[in-house]
Amino acid sequence: MPASPDAIADALAERGWAVVPGFLAVAEAASLLAEGLALRDDFHRAGVGRGSDHQVVAQIRGDEVLWLDERTTAPAQRLYLDRMAALQTALNRALYLGLFSYETHFAVYPPGAFYKRHLDAFHGRPGRTLSCVLYLNDGWADADGGYLRLYLEGANPEPFVDVRPEAGTLVTFLSERFEHEVLPATRERASVTGWFSVRV
Ligand code: OGA
Ligand code: MN
Repeated sequence: MPASPDAIADALAERGWAVVPGFLAVAEAASLLAEGLALRDDFHRAGVGRGSDHQVVAQIRGDEVLWLDERTTAPAQRLYLDRMAALQTALNRALYLGLFSYETHFAVYPPGAFYKRHLDAFHGRPGRTLSCVLYLNDGWADADGGYLRLYLEGANPEPFVDVRPEAGTLVTFLSERFEHEVLPATRERASVTGWFSVRV
């Protein structure tokens, strides 16, 4: 599995997705989780679509989200945003992706919550190029469920890869190419999810 930005770039160039265990150290992920949970009262139910399309659709997704402020001085969020900025620079150098902006939110899935199969680069989100999900829960067991299922061939049901949402693991994939879903978990599941966009 790739670890350095160059290795992530190689994986993206070759197959369009990468799983990176240890992108953040466990302690760094724990600090980020603590900062997120301290803001838990400000989270809101995530919607589907944008503007007038924006509606909470419990049958599609059940997570609660809070967008990060890119000017935050909270140390773990700062570290995360700086790490993602470094990744952006490295990927633009290696792959000429033209990644221009990054938008990112905390997401918490209560036990039993899921996000049905979808594509991130949907109508109303022009420019979304690269999806990045960083997991925050330490000691995630297979039996806890909550996998990210990444479908590798368009709308086909197979093949897919299941990613265990373990603290510090980053998964990144081309937003227009890979349908994916979040399977329900037996415990609360926390992540920071973001999207690099090109200028539109
Ligand atoms: C999303 C999403 C995946 C995950 O927020 O769009 O697909 O593993 N998240 O949390
Ligand atoms: Mn998604």
